[in-house]
Amino acid sequence: MKKKRILSGMRPTGKMHLGHLHGALLNWRKLQEEYECSYFIADWHALTSEYEHPDIIRESTYDIIMDWISVGLDPDVSTFFIQSHIKEHAELHLIFSMITPLPWLERNPTYKEQLRELTQKDVYTYGFLGYPVLQAADILMYKANGVPVGEDQAPHVELTREIARRFNHLYGEVFPVPDVLLTPTSKLLGIDRRKMSKSYDNAIFLTDTDEEIDKKVGQMITDPQRARRNDPGNPDICNVYSFHEIYTDPETVKRINGECRSAAIGCVDCKKVMAAGLKKGLEPVRAKRKELESDIKKVRGIMEEGDKRAREIARETLEEVRAAVKI
Ligand code: TRP
Ligand code: SF4
Repeated sequence: MKKKRILSGMRPTGKMHLGHLHGALLNWRKLQEEYECSYFIADWHALTSEYEHPDIIRESTYDIIMDWISVGLDPDVSTFFIQSHIKEHAELHLIFSMITPLPWLERNPTYKEQLRELTQKDVYTYGFLGYPVLQAADILMYKANGVPVGEDQAPHVELTREIARRFNHLYGEVFPVPDVLLTPTSKLLGIDRRKMSKSYDNAIFLTDTDEEIDKKVGQMITDPQRARRNDPGNPDICNVYSFHEIYTDPETVKRINGECRSAAIGCVDCKKVMAAGLKKGLEPVRAKRKELESDIKKVRGIMEEGDKRAREIARETLEEVRAAVKI
């Protein structure tokens, strides 16, 4: 039986942090075992919000790819490619834009939220409104059956489903209607307890050095109720504890849980234990990353190979699409 196809992408707006790792990448890695996966760099999507300062796009594209490979996404198993290298995405986007009713885009909750929240940037543009149409082109181009995304992206994939149905209804069955594979949000918050994000300056990056990790862990906000060393703490609401649950061995985690509640351990010592586990956990990732950095040619080769594979599928899809719309 043919394997089902999975596709997902990320906008290149900075290197990967632990929020990405536990919110998306480990799930992507697991999906590789069962599905035919394609993962891509959505650089045109990044341009919709970064058009005034596009340098970050080129700078972070290769950072992200190296981060992906470092955490175990395997270019021999999955296809990695760069969206803007496959011009067919632009053509499919254009065709979809003809059949997408404006109200579908205007009522999209993620769109409305971003218009409200991205106040530093002027995203009241044609391109930004059409963001999910481009996303539909990304997904349907490869006839993906499943799209692993976080909650904020679910409305976009819903719209992809509607566009697929509408296209099929107008021109005949060309596209499978893809499923949304909702990825649970990472429990790891940023060092200030807000959602981990580069723009909040609260992220721990996969490429952080030991010193950076020690410093950031030292700054982490713990149980806010625990003001003094002798106050008992509550690990259930402590972000440091969420890190322990992932990076510290289970026996020690259990001990810390008790010692926190009885104030036998202080946050400073508790953090030291956590930082040690985190550094150890990230060690293989950083080692792999160093290896890749010393062989950029190899990374380029991987991308060229991925682009080639993606382009073949994209060309076939576009031929079908052009025949269907009689252009
Ligand atoms: N919009 C996605 C994000 O910001 C990135 C993306 C672009 C994507 N095209 C996609 C994700 C297609 C999944 C499928 O995270
Ligand atoms: Fe959090 Fe550890 Fe402090 Fe308890 S002792 S509040 S788990 S940092």
